[in-house]
Amino acid sequence: MRCRELDPRGFLLRTTMFRTVRGRWRDVDKVSDTPQAIDVALAGGARHRLNLADLENAEEVCAASPGYRRSLVALVREVSPRLAACELTHIARQSIDYERAYFQHAAYVDLLACLGCAVRPLRPAPDLPDSVFVEDTAVVLDELAIVTRPGAVSRRAETTTVDPVLREYRPVRVVTAPGTLDGGDVLVAGKRIFIGLSSRSNQAAVEQVRCWVEPAGYQVHTVAVAGCLHLKSAATEVGDRLLLVNPAWVDPAAFAGLGVIEVDPDEPQAANALRVGDAVIFPTAFSATRRRLETAGVVIHGIDLSELAKAEGAVTCCSLVFLKASAATRTPPPA
Ligand code: GLY
Repeated sequence: MRCRELDPRGFLLRTTMFRTVRGRWRDVDKVSDTPQAIDVALAGGARHRLNLADLENAEEVCAASPGYRRSLVALVREVSPRLAACELTHIARQSIDYERAYFQHAAYVDLLACLGCAVRPLRPAPDLPDSVFVEDTAVVLDELAIVTRPGAVSRRAETTTVDPVLREYRPVRVVTAPGTLDGGDVLVAGKRIFIGLSSRSNQAAVEQVRCWVEPAGYQVHTVAVAGCLHLKSAATEVGDRLLLVNPAWVDPAAFAGLGVIEVDPDEPQAANALRVGDAVIFPTAFSATRRRLETAGVVIHGIDLSELAKAEGAVTCCSLVFLKASAATRTPPPA
């Protein structure tokens, strides 16, 4: 579903069951931090908090309000009962408690919703053990989405259910052979895209991505990673121009011009954090690194994904979070 055109006459507020009045764009002061409410300042200084359910074209108001987190979509997919048969590259196989993984994942999805994301579950793929790790199937930019060709052959079929959903939000490009790319290797920081050359992602895919994104003003940089599965096992974004990095797995010099917080050396797995709006979802297991982040002013929401970590997954792997409206449809509201 694409965001509708903004109505230049304003937006409709249902004040009672029988009465609707037209609000003016210039009266919108700000959208509140809760997923349900919008603050509107009316002429004369009066302020009203309105339930979004009472707003006929709430989606338009959200799209017109910078920073409103409800405009984020989170694609997720439930845990496959075959998770224990997942791919493993850098960690040893341990027994995985499917039920525990299921409930940890459910708590993660709830947290995404609490942070204002419109959660969109993808069709379950019970026969694909790694299918909960939807991040690897796509990269969503403001202007377009890229459906990947995962490096592990066992994971290639995961993309077929993601592609048609993404086409509702963005123009889609698809990585083709000989290219291989996992979304976990793609770190987007503003208009810079860092792609990890890992066991899953190769130079052929980088060149395809470069062709699609450079016309939209992005610069693509390749980054060497060693000792971990993906680039985003080693570095993730925790704020504007601010990364969390494990320097043992990726050289922080690759990110010149960006701020870097290093993980605590006793917590090598801690570099994977998921930024959602102004907040960051972060594993409860890494308290020393969490202290470093909080000292730097990063707002943390802790989550226990320890069972999914046994499948070599982490907090970014389990969702694709992006702005609902594409750059092309995010027109500013009329004055
Ligand atoms: N088990 C996550 C992956 O290897 O892709």
